This record gives sequence, C-alpha cells and structure tokens, in this order.
Amino acid sequence: MTATTVHLGHIYHLAGSPKITEADAALTEIPNGALVVEDGLVTYCGDRHALPATAQHAKVVDHRSGFLLPGFVDTHIHFPQVFAFDSYGGGQLLDWLDSCIYPAEALLRDPEFAQRAAVEFCNRRIAAGSTAAMAFGSPFPHAQDALFAETRRRGLRLVSGRAIQTVNFGSAPPLVTSEEEAVRLTMQEIDKWHAADTGDPKTALLQVAIIPRFSLSITVDTFKSLGQLYDSVRDRGVYFHSHLNENNRPGTGEVDTTKAQFQVDTYLDTYDGKFLPGSKAGGESLLGKRTIMAHAVHCQDVELERMAETGTSIAHCPISQLFLGSGTMPWKRTVASGVNIAAGTDVGGGDEFLIPRVLGDAFKVHVSEPGEAGVSMRPAEMLFLGTLGGARALDQEERFGNFDPGKEADFVVIDPGGTPALASALKYGVRSQDAGLAGQQTLFALLMGIRESSVAEVYVRGRRLS
Ligand code: GUN
Ligand code: ZN
Repeated sequence: MTATTVHLGHIYHLAGSPKITEADAALTEIPNGALVVEDGLVTYCGDRHALPATAQHAKVVDHRSGFLLPGFVDTHIHFPQVFAFDSYGGGQLLDWLDSCIYPAEALLRDPEFAQRAAVEFCNRRIAAGSTAAMAFGSPFPHAQDALFAETRRRGLRLVSGRAIQTVNFGSAPPLVTSEEEAVRLTMQEIDKWHAADTGDPKTALLQVAIIPRFSLSITVDTFKSLGQLYDSVRDRGVYFHSHLNENNRPGTGEVDTTKAQFQVDTYLDTYDGKFLPGSKAGGESLLGKRTIMAHAVHCQDVELERMAETGTSIAHCPISQLFLGSGTMPWKRTVASGVNIAAGTDVGGGDEFLIPRVLGDAFKVHVSEPGEAGVSMRPAEMLFLGTLGGARALDQEERFGNFDPGKEADFVVIDPGGTPALASALKYGVRSQDAGLAGQQTLFALLMGIRESSVAEVYVRGRRLS
C-alpha cells in the first residue's frame, strides 16, 4: 500500500538542474505550497489549490506560516571535533591542529566517549536540519562503527571515512597508523559500511569515503597506495575527500609547507596523482565526481580549472576561514572557473553546525572582498550552496537537493515562531512592490535569520527524524 502525505507551507527550492550561475532563473517560490510525498518520494510540488487527484484525500500536515526548504547539505564537517568547535589557544591552522584538534580527536580512543560523540553528532545534525553530510571521520574503527550505526538508527544520510594519517608529528601520534594499516582499515570500513543499509549505493543513505587528513599527514607511498585503492573501489561509488589550499601563512603555512615538502607546482597536484618532485606523476588521480575538496581558498587558476574538468567539487567553509584566519575564497574567480561549489560548516574549524549560518557568513565575506572582486551574493546562489550544490557535490543530485517530482523527499520545516527575531523580520521587514524581488528578499531574510530554534521538523525520504 502506498502512503501519501501532503505537507503545506511556503516553499522555496531551485527547480531543475541549474549551475550556480543559473540559480536565479531556477528559484521557485510557492507561497501557498504543497509538497506531496508518496512512499518517500516527491510526487508533486506546487500550489495547494491544484493538488493532483491522487493527493486529494491524503493525510495533510499543515505547516502553514512555516516554510519548506530542501534539507541542508553539509559537505565538510568533522565528526571527532563535535565537542571541539570552541577550541581556544590554537591560532591559525597548523598550530590549532597541534594544540587543540589532535588532542580532542584522540579522546575518541575510548569507545564510550566515541559513542557519546556519535550520538551528539547526530543530535547536532538533526537540530541543524543537515539531512546529508560528508563527514571527516575518526581514525578509530570503533568510533566510525558508532557513527555509522547511530546515523542509521536516526535516519540521516552520511558519507564518511576514517581520517588517514601516516606521518608522525607534534601531538598527532595517537591518530597515526602505519601505511599498511591505513589501507587495511580503510578497505575494511568500505566493506563494512559502504551502502550497508541497502546493499546498493544508488539507494543507500550510508556511504564511505577515502579521507587522508591532508597532504601533510601522509607520504608519497601512502598517496600511491590510496590511488590504487581508490581505483579499485571507484566503480562501487566510493568517495574521496580532503583539505586543499586552506592556510597560506607565508613560509610556514599549510600551502607553502605542502609545496615545499612534495616539491610540486600546485597543492592540487598531490591529489591528482602528480605527487612526486616537479609534479611528476607517481600514481592514480584521486579527483572526480565523487571528490570534494574542502576550503580551496588559495587556488591557482589551473587548480580551479582542473577541479572543474574532473567534476571535483569545493566545500566552501567561510565560517572556518574566519575562525582560523585562513582568508577569503575569491568568489567571482572560483565561480567563473565552472567548478561546483557547495557549503561546509567545517566544525570544529567552524563554530556553527547550521548551514544557513555558513550562507550568511558567505554573503558577508564576499561582499567585503576588495574592489571589483566584491559581490553581493544572490539569495538563490546562497540557497544553491546549501542545498542543490551540496547534492551535486555528493554526486546524488538525481536523488535529493530540490523538490522536483521523483526526488527523495528530504526537507526541513522552518517555523519562524521558534525564533522571535526572524518572525519579526519576516513580518515587518520592508519588501519590494515587485513580487519576484520581494520573494528573494524574504528568502534572504530566512537564510540570514534561521537559527536552530527555527528548524521545527526534519525529514529524510519523507520520514520525520527525531
Ligand atoms: N587540515 C587538516 N586537518 C584539518 C582539520 O581538522 N580542520 C581544518 N579546518 N583543516 C584541516
Ligand atoms: Zn576541515
């Protein structure tokens, strides 16, 4: 028997399959909206007065005065940093990792602590309405088991993988394994958890990624082995995820240190199989449609072009860039390259779990870029970053990311009543006489004003999560 539910509310989504540059034209606003969900799939998204006959007598859930948005996609968040988003005493990236983050991640050695972290991680994701996520994992298999098991129990989507470190330095040793162990444990995780819920990556909520922490945490030998490993599992839909061009403190920052250590022309070369001195090929490329590179703040044009060409996506993390003093990703130049861009919280580099807070800070940092580079992001572009762009980054755009009929029904119900400041802004804010512009102004007010208290209900595949 099919189960049909009609959800009523003010709908915003990006219809079709636009690029970010086409987001404005794809923006769809339905003030008297109805989202019809049948067996977990969207069968109708439109005006509630024009419901299809099959939905006329269906169960109705009335969210009116509230808004229905596609579920948020967090394309870069660190599971073992769930309690470390307020870490003080680190400074910029490499010092912060050593002083604050490696010690925090080492706490997950304790299985009870790891279980607590897994529960908290799912709690925070549901509170924030992040229905899908790419999560940097813990190197400890019991912690990853806890994360996947709890995520399955709660009904969220997840791509994750143990963070691989094969180089000893500073406070990293508890997180480091030998290269053989790194490959063995990663393969073991893929076999255990990739599509574990349905047996088929096309329908699974749970999937696995190969995740070296960053180039500085592994050796050329590890790069070679991971290239071979990735090649052997690509056709199973396994992902690849890491950090790229985040901190460019002259001489001692992540970018300069990486280029000096590997003697490569670009940081991206290390992930592109060209990790030997002079950017000589040493193994297989790790780029592709199921690869997400976090940050990409300080890319050369050739790196952006190569990511665009290979279908690799960027997880844009402006809150983290503010917190760690990493600088600002050049918006116009990055968009112009054609690379897909999505949003990431980067908790605990970022101190917010909520994707709309990331979108709000994206707006602020890009309007503040100097001179001609400065840009006032369109509300539709912000929505793209937090929803459809994320689904594309996960190479699952055909499954979720908007409300096109046939998509799996991942959505959040935003109740402005939960957040008095948002409710007042929506009620009394000045709006244009032009209906189209007024709709964009309301969407902007929403994306800037949503807090966790505004996220009333969260659905994955039509099922309400709690
Ligand atoms: N680069 C390597 N590890 C990390 C991490 O944990 N967070 C961030 N923001 N960047 C990194
Ligand atoms: Zn990160």
